[in-house]
Amino acid sequence: MQVNIIRLFFYNYKSSIKNTIRTFLPLGRILFLVFIVASANLFSQKFENLALTPPMGWNSWNKFACNVNEKLIREMADAMVSSGMKDAGYQYINIDDCWHGKRDSLGFIQPDPERFPSGMKALSDYIHSKGLKFGIYSDAGWNTCGGKPGSRGYEFQDAMQYAKWGIDYLKYDWCNTEALNAEGAYLTMRNALYSAGRPIVFSLCEWGNNKPWDWGKNVGHLWRTIGDITNCFDCVVDHGTWKSWGVMYILDLQDGLRVHAGPDHWNDPDMMEVGNGMFVNEDRAHFSMWCLLAAPLIAGNDLTNMSKETKEILTNKEVIEINQDSLGIQGFKYSARDSLEIWFKPLIKGDWAICFLNRSNRLQKISFDWKEEMVADSLSGRETNFSSVAYKTRNLWTKKELGTTKKILNDEVPGHDVLLLRLIKME
Ligand code: GLA
Repeated sequence: MQVNIIRLFFYNYKSSIKNTIRTFLPLGRILFLVFIVASANLFSQKFENLALTPPMGWNSWNKFACNVNEKLIREMADAMVSSGMKDAGYQYINIDDCWHGKRDSLGFIQPDPERFPSGMKALSDYIHSKGLKFGIYSDAGWNTCGGKPGSRGYEFQDAMQYAKWGIDYLKYDWCNTEALNAEGAYLTMRNALYSAGRPIVFSLCEWGNNKPWDWGKNVGHLWRTIGDITNCFDCVVDHGTWKSWGVMYILDLQDGLRVHAGPDHWNDPDMMEVGNGMFVNEDRAHFSMWCLLAAPLIAGNDLTNMSKETKEILTNKEVIEINQDSLGIQGFKYSARDSLEIWFKPLIKGDWAICFLNRSNRLQKISFDWKEEMVADSLSGRETNFSSVAYKTRNLWTKKELGTTKKILNDEVPGHDVLLLRLIKME
């Protein structure tokens, strides 16, 4: 009797465990799946350390707009090497809008078969064989700004395709994104890129509408702070529903943003217009200011057809050093008087860059008595008192030593031009 009771107890016990398992098995499965999906997002992140200094490269949009094809892109890669730009630090060859064909029957995006008959993998291999990196463009919305297929709803598939093609850099635009939340949309693509497993620089091109500097640091490596640049020094071009901005307008709109920039997360005031039609002095000022801003240096001109001056501007290594300084501190405006602005940028080893920017179109004389100036940057905690610390002064455009900060600087700056110096700390 006692034995039977014990058997019955164990029978009931076992069957209630079985029932419990049966009841909860589907729930367990669901929870497991939820865990997998959640952890894909939970453990997703941006690929770190891909842009410890501002990215340098070339992009097709400013010069060629939708007229892109594989021949052009190969020629640009060749020219980046033969012009000395690669040696100067430029790495990325980026195709902007309009490379797209259709999605295949499974939804994978394909390049336009007429413009890119060899396919993206072959182009990518070519660019990599030159020691360069390959960038591509998409959009968070249904369509790109040029009306090509966007990534909305296809983010993970597109990321897989880019990884398969060997892409190194993605510029992700913001056209046709009605009803999307910017941070959410960019996070989705960030996670998609991470899941695809290939380290890709993620460039957010959201034009600053939703303050990407407030949330972009963990999402991407750079974010556009403004709409599109245009190739003039201080004009605004009204296109009806949108405007494009000259170099000085863009510069002014960077005010207050430097606190958000640093290694691996940069403010992007848009790709450069150097060599696209401004005067040489204006190109020089534009390039100098992008270096002072620690902006990504993405050339936007025809690299196969550069004037000597354009090439000299884009490949000036000492100016590029200001931009690529490993501290990664964005420069700041120190003073502004009579259209003459003075900008400073702290550099490694206690050096500084100083740039006199003449925004007027007449020549301006400079008389700068260092000892009267006290430069203090509360952001980086760096300051200099020229009465107690002396610097050698080197003009980075003429490549000449000017003297030291012990003596008053007497010089001049032509209209729409700069005087850019490196202050080299004396022991
Ligand atoms: C937007 C971007 C530009 C360029 C074009 C392409 O306007 O801001 O930089 O990518 O789209 O259509």
